[in-house]
Amino acid sequence: TSIAAPFKVRDLSLAEAGRHQFRLAENEMPGLMALREEFGASKPLAGARIAGSLHMTVQTGVLIETLVALGAQVRWASCNIFSTQDEAAAAVAVGPNGTPESPAGVPVFAWKGETLEEYWWCTSQIFDWSAEGFDGPNMILDDGGDATILVHKGREFELAGAVPDATESDSHEWRVILDTLRASLAASPDRWTRIAAEIKGVTEETTTGVHRLYELAKAGELQFAAINVNDSVTKSKFDNKYGIRHSLPDGLNRATDVLIGGKVVFVAGYGDVGKGAAEALKGQGARVIVSEIDPINALQAAMDGFQVTTIEDVVGDVDIFVTGTGNENVLTVDHMLGMKHLAIVANVGHFDNEIDIAGLEKLAGTEKIEIKPQVHEWRLPTGRSILVLSEGRLMNLGNATGHPSFVMSNSFTNQVLAQIELYAHGENYEKKVYVLPKYLDEKVARLHLDALGVKLTVLSEQQAAYIGVPVDGPYKVDHYRY
Ligand code: NAI
Repeated sequence: TSIAAPFKVRDLSLAEAGRHQFRLAENEMPGLMALREEFGASKPLAGARIAGSLHMTVQTGVLIETLVALGAQVRWASCNIFSTQDEAAAAVAVGPNGTPESPAGVPVFAWKGETLEEYWWCTSQIFDWSAEGFDGPNMILDDGGDATILVHKGREFELAGAVPDATESDSHEWRVILDTLRASLAASPDRWTRIAAEIKGVTEETTTGVHRLYELAKAGELQFAAINVNDSVTKSKFDNKYGIRHSLPDGLNRATDVLIGGKVVFVAGYGDVGKGAAEALKGQGARVIVSEIDPINALQAAMDGFQVTTIEDVVGDVDIFVTGTGNENVLTVDHMLGMKHLAIVANVGHFDNEIDIAGLEKLAGTEKIEIKPQVHEWRLPTGRSILVLSEGRLMNLGNATGHPSFVMSNSFTNQVLAQIELYAHGENYEKKVYVLPKYLDEKVARLHLDALGVKLTVLSEQQAAYIGVPVDGPYKVDHYRY
């Protein structure tokens, strides 16, 4: 329906627990708190109406309240059905000055364990600004691209005058999206076209979402400017790597509590996420085997001391499988049939198609037993079982609480700076994908040094001239890789 709900969360009485966690998180998020200090009075986001689709965690709560402190109006949904922390969603809805009886926070539509139908309803709600007296948002803050894709597909179908029928091979999720857009087309012939025209830009959090943006731009279909937050150095080289290094073992422990030391672990993909995963598991004493398709990353993994081989080579020897490629069908049904009894299968890539769960669901002679929420034993026709975490979705958020505050402060400081850029200086940007300039990337890092007791060496004028950089930076050429 097009009736705007005020918000929808699991349980408002969790707000106090969420608020306590926000206070602790604020202490660990110096970048965001510095932006509140710097921009709280000038309010560069006044007039911004941000539709946010990003895991509704404690850290995201601090991000949302920072955007509000900078003048923005915000509506929010999670970007994954399992990643919401219900106490964080409640605290956002209640707000710092409200009570569960009279909530006074931000309209948030998120709870842990949504169905796909509920998920796309929630995502639709961040575009319905009728309660605020507007047609729609004028900014998107996205993680994985679902909000951006909804606008683009909605507009595409409006221009075509119809939403296509689902085909036999379409996934359940795609059918849900088609149904959502069919209902919206029936209600208005040009709603998404108007929303797309109103949006100044999107800031995108993750590798997979950025990939979708570059594809839209390449096809000439991108409807507004985009900032690729992921490829700020202070995002992907920190969140993707050090964040996973923390939250992957956290997810494994909370889900299964198996001892990682001594186990054989397979990590698919040795990009930023794979590097963090492999390092964490090695640190726990596991014997880590890596797979890669890119010779450069494969060589890196080998030089970091990991065996690098194909999954087919070792599938029967592995205790724990972790995928982090952003690709599809990395673990197939055939692979799963070849696994050890009670092998653990976990994904930390953005979407659930890295592991062929849909194929597993279609396989005859299986039985799915819930051990606890987000932990399922699949009994296979071979007589063996495997343990699937978070139904193949991001398990560091589904089985644990995602990355910790300090690393998310780096990511989200980039997000806020990117929102300010596109909203307040939109005239400088075309319908293309940009990254933040290096001086802002360095600024994000600078804001996080004091908290760790880091003392930076200051260049002398002479040294600066010798290496050809300004004393205050930026210090590296754009193609430097860190
Ligand atoms: P990346 O591009 O740095 O690394 C992915 C690696 O996987 C590449 O080196 C690529 O060559 C390799 N690869 C691709 N297909 C493969 C295959 N079939 N077998 C083996 N290796 C393969 O990307 P990044 O930043 O590491 O992100 C990976 C995924 O994780 C993305 O979907 C991203 O959105 C997601 N992500 C998840 C986070 C979380 O909290 N769970 C945090 C950050 C990113």
